[in-house]
Amino acid sequence: MNLADGRGRELESRFQLEKTMATKKPATPSVHIRPGEKVKVLITRDRIHRRILEIAKQIRKDFPEEPLLLVGVLKGAVFFLSDLARGIPGEVSLDFIAVSSYGKDTKTSGQVRLTKDLDASIEGRTVIVVEDILDTGMTLQYLLRILEQRKPKRLRVAVLLDKPERRIAAVRADYVGFSIPNEFVVGFGLDYAERYRNLHGVAVLSLKAQDKAGKPDR
Ligand code: IMP
Ligand code: MG
Repeated sequence: MNLADGRGRELESRFQLEKTMATKKPATPSVHIRPGEKVKVLITRDRIHRRILEIAKQIRKDFPEEPLLLVGVLKGAVFFLSDLARGIPGEVSLDFIAVSSYGKDTKTSGQVRLTKDLDASIEGRTVIVVEDILDTGMTLQYLLRILEQRKPKRLRVAVLLDKPERRIAAVRADYVGFSIPNEFVVGFGLDYAERYRNLHGVAVLSLKAQDKAGKPDR
């Protein structure tokens, strides 16, 4: 880079700024925690970022030449997907799908319905479904069934978290960020009643005894 000219200086100072932003830790975000709710960090932001980069590299290694389509499952997968997509070199496209469970408890109903479909066809494409967490597996089982019918060239699954103890459906992920114990977790995209998605790390949420009736709705 020729620093003698103005353009060179501009690029140099932008580079310095980006370097500072990447190395300096921002303050812990002030997430509003409601009375009766407690969060305890399980996986720090830095560990998550490191692990996502490893997965991203692995994915590119597994598919060295192929354009990849990452399909994010809204809303929980958004932060995982955005870091993962930026970590994979080469051609990467994004699409989104959304599902919701019938009834309050997927453990008993196990029924899933599509609330937002993909924008484009996946026929002949190498698709990686990106999910926040693999719990009972009912959501993923449903999604894989409908996506498989659309004849992708390959269909793979990446999940940030896996709770193997809770599995009901016979599904597995090809890429797993972290296997975690059977606890309800929030943060890095995962929510409790639409809150806590903005926590930088993953934390265990516990509710006070009197609130247990409103146990986290998975
Ligand atoms: P599954 O169909 O039981 O595998 O559940 C998958 C969905 O349930 C995830 O995409 C999450 O939206 C939600 N879920 C499961 N466990 C948790 C958790 O511990 N915290 C937040 N959401 C969860
Ligand atoms: Mg989800």
